[in-house]
Amino acid sequence: MVRTIWSRLVASTLTAAFCTLAVNSPALAADPVKIGFLVKQAEEPWFQDEWHYAEQAAHEKGFTLVKIGVPNGEKMMAAIDNLAAQKAQGFVICAPDVKLGTAVERTAKRNNLKVISVDDQLIDGSGKAISSIPHMGISGYDIGKQVGQGLLNEIKARGWVLSEVGAMRLAFDQLPTAQQRTQGAADALKAAGLPAANVFDAAQAKTDTESAFNAANIVFTKQTKFKHWVVFGLNDEAVLGTVRAAEGRGLRNDAVIGIGIGGSKAALNEFAKPNPTAFYGSVLISSKRHGYETTMNMYKWITENKLPAAVTFTSGVLMTRQNQAAVRADFGL
Ligand code: GLA
Repeated sequence: MVRTIWSRLVASTLTAAFCTLAVNSPALAADPVKIGFLVKQAEEPWFQDEWHYAEQAAHEKGFTLVKIGVPNGEKMMAAIDNLAAQKAQGFVICAPDVKLGTAVERTAKRNNLKVISVDDQLIDGSGKAISSIPHMGISGYDIGKQVGQGLLNEIKARGWVLSEVGAMRLAFDQLPTAQQRTQGAADALKAAGLPAANVFDAAQAKTDTESAFNAANIVFTKQTKFKHWVVFGLNDEAVLGTVRAAEGRGLRNDAVIGIGIGGSKAALNEFAKPNPTAFYGSVLISSKRHGYETTMNMYKWITENKLPAAVTFTSGVLMTRQNQAAVRADFGL
């Protein structure tokens, strides 16, 4: 009898204790927020800047940010599975290939992970942008036009004759934003009177400096009649690789004008060299918005069920050696 009462007492005390634990213990509250940030080229300064600003959001809100480099599809799929195993609730991604869009969408759904794309908008099997994945990217065509306008202003300042200027488009056309950016620049040049026959495509195998260097070398080897060149591509790396290839042929900043897109460390290091190179400028775009806002949007989606805007296109401003400090300050960088 005593024993039964005793064991009942113990049982009810335990139940009460457990209930208190269930209500108060943070361990049993909702899982802590964990957000992945997956980028295709972790070694590129642009993506490091995005991570930096994403960390800022994580720090402010007190959630965990998991940064993973995903240079290929296999690593990307493994990273998404890994996030799910770590009980993350969502991730921001710049995929290694936009054609992996449907795979990203499916894997995220299967793992109950929310997904936002950044920089490179994901496409489905028919090449259409996946509208169910909120996206933040740059306004590629307009920014390309700004590159073209910057080149034209500098051509004019130097008194070059448009019909005698060669234009090199570093092309990575399988990526829609890259195609739009370089198309914008080429259109601006042609609209001002640069003959279409003076525009040469140098196709990059990848979007890095080395691929640009190799692609540009082929064009410089074939097109020897131009003494003056303008060069443009999807990012600063494309233009830097081209500028290095030009230097290898004795074409320096008096013969070549290059304007990139990005404005992060790759460009700033070039501006910091004691003598100006042919890398004349870069259209600064906001790694802060792309890193901080996408991550913050994901956080609000997870914690407040606030769905981010379907698409956001950010703008840029031409930055040169001369105005770099002011332009970056305007961007809050
Ligand atoms: C693409 C490019 C990057 C950078 C971003 C900016 O992903 O590969 O170098 O320009 O766009 O959105």
